[in-house]
Amino acid sequence: MNKPKVSVVLGLQWGDEGKGKILDVMASEADWVLRAQGGNNAGHTVEIGSEKYVLHLVPSGILRSKVSCLIAGGAVVDPGGLIREIEGLTQRGIQTRSRLFLASQAHLVLPVHRAVDRGFEKKRGRSRIGTTGRGIGPAYSDKMARIGLRAGELALPPGELAKRLRERVEAHNRAARVQGWEKISATGTIREMARAAKFLRPYLTDGVSVAHRAVAAGKRILIEGAQGTFLDVDHGTYPFVTSSHCTAGGACTGTGVPPTAIRRVVGVLKAYTTRVGGGPFVTEDGTLGHLLHGMGREFGSTTGRARRCGWFDAVLVRRAVQLNGVTEMAMTNLDGLDGLEKIPVCIGYRLRNKVLREPPVEVSDWEKCRPVYRMFEGWCEPTTEARQWGDLPKKARTYLSAIKELVGAPLGIISVGAGREQTFRHG
Ligand code: IMP
Repeated sequence: MNKPKVSVVLGLQWGDEGKGKILDVMASEADWVLRAQGGNNAGHTVEIGSEKYVLHLVPSGILRSKVSCLIAGGAVVDPGGLIREIEGLTQRGIQTRSRLFLASQAHLVLPVHRAVDRGFEKKRGRSRIGTTGRGIGPAYSDKMARIGLRAGELALPPGELAKRLRERVEAHNRAARVQGWEKISATGTIREMARAAKFLRPYLTDGVSVAHRAVAAGKRILIEGAQGTFLDVDHGTYPFVTSSHCTAGGACTGTGVPPTAIRRVVGVLKAYTTRVGGGPFVTEDGTLGHLLHGMGREFGSTTGRARRCGWFDAVLVRRAVQLNGVTEMAMTNLDGLDGLEKIPVCIGYRLRNKVLREPPVEVSDWEKCRPVYRMFEGWCEPTTEARQWGDLPKKARTYLSAIKELVGAPLGIISVGAGREQTFRHG
């Protein structure tokens, strides 16, 4: 057997770290990109020249014509959303047939799931999670409750698929009466899925066999994580998380690729911090948010929401480095800090007269933590033209070197803008 060449690329903060862009650059040396988890709650933005692509479910590798892509079994798939994405790519001249595969093991996101997502959020009122409203949590709940439908069921004889869908929708409508959720039309769902089945059937495959054949053949594989470490259902700021495993473990369970095949874990992170939706955020700073939004930065690519912004949090990222076994980091958005005279970095959390070096377990404690900052001098000049480490202002290099030390992982890649050419390797 050939030596496995598998790399995992995942987010070290709360998502939106720029994984799409880093994956696109890394995909120039890949044969396969496998999307491990999440659904069309994700939004991976890639800019190529004057063209901008926002991908939700389709792996970023699709933009490189020699790369094959798999939406693996750990993902949840809204068939309508996926079809719209495929059609959008086709219209822009990007072929997906024979290059994009959908694992039969992936669970389906149905209209009932979006209704439950909306219902739960409404009930939570002010303490809502701030989900993307794409039905992701309820689809994963059905999977865990062992009542979900999988993508492979789209290949069933139409009558059998209709029967299973009708049962699921009727069960929803019975619960909806009690819970006050929106009711869903069984006929509408059946019609929608019948159309989706026709379109998506040629893409269906056994995701695990595809992944293992690629590993055994020594293909260069990137496993694409969606969201970020602190949105992981086990390791994030629960309950303000998504419903999948965004950490390195999720890359294995989501694709069926074993941990022993993974050679490299690239943790993507921003030079500051952002999050969308509710939940604790120790270094949040409205002034920084105002500044970044004023530059047209930090608006969500899936929902268009303005992201919450804050300073770099080394307590958080150090934990993410441990959780994921990061072998190198890819730092994005350094240019977002170009105009600042002083740049704080959080090195500890103050909680009840103690300084914590690790995040607390309970969200109620997390919300009470106050940041302990170390101040760095800003470089006050553009970094967007830098093409190598030596081109960066000295103060920017000091900032990056300090972050490396604080979080305990090497820095492999630096990005100073949205373009492919604005990314370079460190050293
Ligand atoms: P859900 O994944 O739609 O259930 O949303 C749960 C939480 O995860 C919310 O706070 C969302 O804003 C957040 N979230 C989900 N997907 C992303 C993403 O791709 N980037 C950033 N935040 C996300």
